[in-house]
Amino acid sequence: MTDHAHVHGDDHDILFLPGPTEVDAELREIMAMPVVGHRSAGFIEEVKAIGQKLKSLFLTENGHALFENCSATAMMEVAIRNLVRERSLHIVNGAFSDRWYKVAAACGRQPDAIQIEWGGAPTVEQVQEKLKQDGPYDAVTVTYSETSTGALSPLREIAAMVREVAPDTLVLVDAVSALAGAELRFDDWDLDLVYAGTQKCLALPPGLCVYALSERAMARTNDVPNRGFLTDYQRAAKGLAAGKTPATPCIPLVYALSRQLDRIAKETLDVRWQRHQNMQATTRDWAQAEGYEFFVDEPNRSPTVTALKNSGREVKDLIAKARANGFTLGNGYGTLKDKTFRIGHMGDHPESRLKQFLEVISGA
Ligand SMILES: Cc1ncc(COP(=O)(O)O)c(C=O)c1O
Repeated sequence: MTDHAHVHGDDHDILFLPGPTEVDAELREIMAMPVVGHRSAGFIEEVKAIGQKLKSLFLTENGHALFENCSATAMMEVAIRNLVRERSLHIVNGAFSDRWYKVAAACGRQPDAIQIEWGGAPTVEQVQEKLKQDGPYDAVTVTYSETSTGALSPLREIAAMVREVAPDTLVLVDAVSALAGAELRFDDWDLDLVYAGTQKCLALPPGLCVYALSERAMARTNDVPNRGFLTDYQRAAKGLAAGKTPATPCIPLVYALSRQLDRIAKETLDVRWQRHQNMQATTRDWAQAEGYEFFVDEPNRSPTVTALKNSGREVKDLIAKARANGFTLGNGYGTLKDKTFRIGHMGDHPESRLKQFLEVISGA
């Protein structure tokens, strides 16, 4: 709660951060429910139902659709521990893709990287050349929407190329700031692992991650020893299919996820993706009118987050202006702090609210 005037009439600062994102009142109310046992019949049914709903979200019939009680960073580690025997290739174009590369080293693997200047995105040719020159790799990791810079990678095209030139290399995808905001089709694009945390385009509090796994990925786990206990994909898939989470999850958040998946299905993925495209276009037009330079060139801009250069203005003044009107926006990430700022136009925001927000930070 804040005590200043809110132009939007709500009782708290509305988040236009690139995560965590604004959570609707209906979902917040579910979070306040009395806790039930996670081995109760009702909860077991809910877990099974979520498995089906997640299949619709990932657009997969053939894959396993699962969730876990953890941060997205843990999902990076789980992926390495389950799917990489020795060598992984990481497309590094920002802070989160770089984190995955470092996670692989921390797990004792031999990671290699394609380093791309921050703000850029890989080309299919760059990845293909690397695979041919230095492969084989057990897996290649792609950070679909690199939240630190606002760059979207050509995931579909990269995945198609990998399947063709390196059929034994798995395609692992961080879709943390993309899933339910940017087009993503697990089966059609023939992906092996996709994960996302609940605190971005899913517009829920942080705490859970959802993920999808291909049969090819599941088969790979047989070749990887010491996958861990909580983090073992085989164990997780078997348990969740029977409605049993491996450990005690954040129970109210699981119910909120279930409701949110219904709400997304009702909106439909196509409409939701289009709404994010529209929000990106609105932000782009506003930035051009206000004279801000973009950190990412077209066509690599993410539909969910836009990073802009400060363009002679003080980012802290912009953030203060937003706050004075009951909104929160994101500073630049890491070394980009104060040099850039980020508008997270993702989640459940109606376009009208984005416009209201942009209006109050205009003329800085
Ligand atoms: C693309 C991406 N990957 C991973 C993460 C890490 O998520 P978490 O903080 O849940 O570990 C983030 C967080 O912002 C992200 O944007």
